[in-house]
Amino acid sequence: MYYPEELIEEIRAKNDIVEVISGYVRLQKKGNNYFGLCPFHNEKSPSFSVSGAKQMYYCFGCGAGGNVITFLMEYENCSFQEAVKTLAGRAGVDLPQMEYSAKEKQAQNRRAKLLAVNKEAAKYFYYQLRSRQGAIGYEYLKKRQLSDETMQRFGLGYSNRYSDDLIRYLKTKGYPEDVIRDAGLCNVDEKHGMYDKFWNRVMFPIQDINHRVIGFGGRVMGDGKPKYLNSPETEIFDKSRNLYGLNFARTSRKGNIILCEGYMDVIAMHQAGFSQAVASLGTAFTSGQAVLLKRYANEVLLSYDSDEAGVRAALRAIGILKEAGMTGRVIDLTPYKDPDEFIKNLGAQAFQERLDRAENSFFFELRQKEKEYDLGDPEGKTNFCRAIAKKLCEFSEEVERENYLEAAAQKYHIGFESLRRLVAGYAARTGLVSPVIRPKSGVQKKNTPRENAKRDQRLLLTWLAEQPSLYPKIKKYISPSDFTEELYQKAAERLFADLEKGEVNPAAVVSMFEEESQQREAASLFHARLVKMDSLAEREKAFHDILYAVKKNSYERDSASGNDSMEDLYRAIEGKKLLEELGKTHISLE
Ligand code: UTP
Ligand code: MN
Repeated sequence: MYYPEELIEEIRAKNDIVEVISGYVRLQKKGNNYFGLCPFHNEKSPSFSVSGAKQMYYCFGCGAGGNVITFLMEYENCSFQEAVKTLAGRAGVDLPQMEYSAKEKQAQNRRAKLLAVNKEAAKYFYYQLRSRQGAIGYEYLKKRQLSDETMQRFGLGYSNRYSDDLIRYLKTKGYPEDVIRDAGLCNVDEKHGMYDKFWNRVMFPIQDINHRVIGFGGRVMGDGKPKYLNSPETEIFDKSRNLYGLNFARTSRKGNIILCEGYMDVIAMHQAGFSQAVASLGTAFTSGQAVLLKRYANEVLLSYDSDEAGVRAALRAIGILKEAGMTGRVIDLTPYKDPDEFIKNLGAQAFQERLDRAENSFFFELRQKEKEYDLGDPEGKTNFCRAIAKKLCEFSEEVERENYLEAAAQKYHIGFESLRRLVAGYAARTGLVSPVIRPKSGVQKKNTPRENAKRDQRLLLTWLAEQPSLYPKIKKYISPSDFTEELYQKAAERLFADLEKGEVNPAAVVSMFEEESQQREAASLFHARLVKMDSLAEREKAFHDILYAVKKNSYERDSASGNDSMEDLYRAIEGKKLLEELGKTHISLE
């Protein structure tokens, strides 16, 4: 670890988690904990909890969790060291100036390494663009009417013609091959070995909200294919949770965000003064991105291509925005293809007018639907009315539904009362459509024996952390080595040592780990869901069952290991004895 553990612990302890998170998420006190809408996934009702006693947060919806350091890492997309630095500043703790020796660099966590190599690559491309070899790239960008200032602001660069140029440069800077590879900066194949991913392209560094380079897009300067080449997803580059331009847009304070499809569009808009523009990263807009945008604005203006694919993408995005509780409006760019071309031809003022006139997403959706029906034909019109009624059912709030009903009736010359009856009919049959809750962080956990064993171990740790007085009663039966996963074992060692001293500090357990994923897992050890039981007898039985299951699993593992050194044999015999004894022992929870 880069900073001494005691120092990290001091900084963590001086930053009250409820206070810090309150700066980002609106929290409400409920019982001993605070609840709010999870900033890491889409949700309508709060499942994100923050515990002042544990100094941890945990989301029962998506499983995000950790201590105050984890929160910052996850929210600001930063490394462990950076989070510690920020918190030290906040609490007024002086951090020692650490010398970056080669060895310490080696010890940086992976995230920091990948960020560092990307930054170095961005610097290199930037320098290339301004050198003689890069003149061709510079000319290209000039031709596309980007000013020097804009190029500088977006850190645009150029990857030159040689296919191992960047790799060689990065190696001279001391970056090992595996880091270069894992950052997605090169390709590897048997015939050619390692070679640069990007060459002879103008380069668009992709930055996260804190201006850290997390990947690249590279454009050919002519008609070659593919037009844009993008970095693959890496540990630091999650395309579904970042947006191009958001590092600037987040502070634009325009009251809305303009969402478009292209890097060049974002840049052209920013250059024209629309600094609230962002783009997805060569992939479709996701609910993770909607969550991110919601931090900065409630309204999103969609500026997608006007072709068929663009309309489809806009409709999809509208749905996703709605689910996240945001409103969307659609900008009409005709007769131009995208914002870049529009601005080039008609200028910023005309674009602003289009923004002001952007169409409410409900009417945009109806207008697209309308194309499917022949409104000259009574049957066609009837069917269209039905489609409108169905759509109106999507508004779960009555006032809103009524307002839209009125507007739609007027716009399409439908009798208000008859449309209303249609809506009521649909609502009666199918219920008002409440937004679909998408599955969160992925697949439902399968109940493999290993998963079951892990769950029991989590339950035990959670229970012990919540009721430390149990520890003296069970320590005879359970030791850290009974935990089957390395991370669980490490966490148990620390927790048991603390319990031995009569204190518990789950948040300190979390920051024993530097990687966000490990911290998240460590946090989950203290948030297993204990089923609420009223009677003491039930609770005692439940606790005993969990304890027994953990011990039994560990015993079975030991005896099945096939290792028959004297030590293993002894462990197995000892385990069996304890298991039998535990089976007969009553453990009181009082
Ligand atoms: P477009 O094809 O609409 O290009 O792609 P553009 O943004 O207008 O680019 P210019 O103006 O021709 O330079 C929109 C976005 O889709 C992704 C990129 O993120 C691009 O900005 N894309 C496109 C790719 O990832 N690969 C491609 O080959 C093309
Ligand atoms: Mn374009």
